[in-house]
Amino acid sequence: MTANLHRLVYYSRNHVSADAASFKAAVDDILAKSRINNARDDITGALLFNSGCFAQVLEGPLETVEATFERIQQDERHGEVSLLAFDPVPHRSFPDWAMGFIGLSDADAARFSGIAASSGFDPSRLSGQEIHRLLRDLTLEEEQAHA
Ligand SMILES: Cc1cc2nc3c(=O)[nH]c(=O)nc-3n(C[C@H](O)[C@H](O)[C@H](O)COP(=O)(O)O)c2cc1C
Repeated sequence: MTANLHRLVYYSRNHVSADAASFKAAVDDILAKSRINNARDDITGALLFNSGCFAQVLEGPLETVEATFERIQQDERHGEVSLLAFDPVPHRSFPDWAMGFIGLSDADAARFSGIAASSGFDPSRLSGQEIHRLLRDLTLEEEQAHA
């Protein structure tokens, strides 16, 4: 049990150069750092990327979630960071993920969020609850695929 468990949801705009190699390097770096820091800070969650946007769920003790989000907001690899939800929760949705990463195709986004694939996935059109549900469903699929 984690005392003072909170969940934070945000989305942001990707500022990493669009070429595949730079993007992969940036994501690998973010994930490597996240997995070390989040294990230390008792934080779990998932990070999603699609069409130039990030969306992330962080869950853990209030203090470490706040400190992590402070660092993330100052990161120049993204911008226009928009906080969608920050609430106390009774249990974790991502207990086994120090930071799950999901690259999402527009077709998958459409399937999960009801957004037309042709319009592209834009997390700014989703609520914190919808983003949370989307990431949870996708990580569950991922877990089942590798079970
Ligand atoms: C989209 C995005 C998501 C990130 N997620 C996390 C995270 O979950 N945990 C974390 O510690 N850092 C995360 N970072 C990295 C932080 O911005 C920052 O670089 C890092 O926490 C610095 O750690 P250090 O002080 O140990 O060097 C993320 C960065 C970006 C751009």
